[in-house]
Amino acid sequence: MSMKDIADPFTPEADSKWYRAMWNFWHPVAYSHEVSEGGMLSGALLGERVLLVRHEGEARAFMDVCRHKGAAPSLGWIENGCIACPYHGWEYNMDGDLVNIPSRPELNGVLNVRLEPYKCMEKSGLIWVCLGDEPWREPLPFPEWDDATMEWQSPPYYDWETSSPRRLENFVDFSHFPFVHENILGTRDKAEVEEHEVWREDGILRFDRWVVEPNEDKMKEYLGLDDDIINVQNRYYLTVPGTIYLIRYFPNGKRYALYMATAPTGPTTCRNFWHIGADFALTDEAKAYLLDFELRVLEQDRPIVESQWPEHLPDLLGAEMYVKVADEVTLAYRSWLFELAAEWAAAGEQQEEVAG
Ligand code: FES
Ligand SMILES: [Fe+2]
Repeated sequence: MSMKDIADPFTPEADSKWYRAMWNFWHPVAYSHEVSEGGMLSGALLGERVLLVRHEGEARAFMDVCRHKGAAPSLGWIENGCIACPYHGWEYNMDGDLVNIPSRPELNGVLNVRLEPYKCMEKSGLIWVCLGDEPWREPLPFPEWDDATMEWQSPPYYDWETSSPRRLENFVDFSHFPFVHENILGTRDKAEVEEHEVWREDGILRFDRWVVEPNEDKMKEYLGLDDDIINVQNRYYLTVPGTIYLIRYFPNGKRYALYMATAPTGPTTCRNFWHIGADFALTDEAKAYLLDFELRVLEQDRPIVESQWPEHLPDLLGAEMYVKVADEVTLAYRSWLFELAAEWAAAGEQQEEVAG
């Protein structure tokens, strides 16, 4: 038996059903703070290079490929409200229209050429882009982001060599805690996952869990809780295709939040943006501790998740085995993604009928 017999092998990206549906959704491409007025940045999404620019306060997105010879305009400059390509100085206005060809000015206004604009919006400290014509749903509402009692930090994004659903599933996989994060997020003698409710409400997949976990010394200090083992309520909010956040309620009512939005940069690669917030760790030292803790957890996860085969999500729900209760959220998330893929396929068929 070879690896390819275990699950369907990686096929060209067009054959991966969930991946094809991804064009219809908003995905994060950068943090808002990374694109300042008059600045540019090149991001990656679904195999495309995406240019982000901020003009008069508003973030805009374009295909980061010059229509002349394909150089990246994001390497150029902004002048007179125009994006100038660094190779031969062609200039595009903020609607993407080509307005100046320095080497042949008499052609200005004659060539009907455009730097392809994409739909772009800002929410929850991120710049979101949709490559399709009509986004199917809004990004996940995240009210805690505007909660003045929470102190936030947004660490640099991290790229993983796996598909974005695999990355997201890792976030909601409860039975790996005692093994991958032993003595940090769980212990092996308590490996069993207890029953928990999983439900969809207002376009959000919800699930709550009470967990018993070790309380590290520094956390004792920041939280003001001396117990070695504490009971924490974890409330999760997930929406397709790849955004999730978790609010943790400690026994003394203090809150900790972890937000993560994963974007498919390709069928088997993802870029992950995140925010860490808390209403108890307000000093720089405490914030550095929380970040360090999460980075430790991430580095434990990364090699395991990158080892999952195939890297993209198998197209069939039955291709992998699910364990009752422990994998319930995985199954709910996957089923939802596959619903979207089916919707996408149906929409495609309808269009073909109309065209035919
Ligand atoms: S490639 Fe952009 S101006 Fe020539
Ligand atoms: Fe993990």
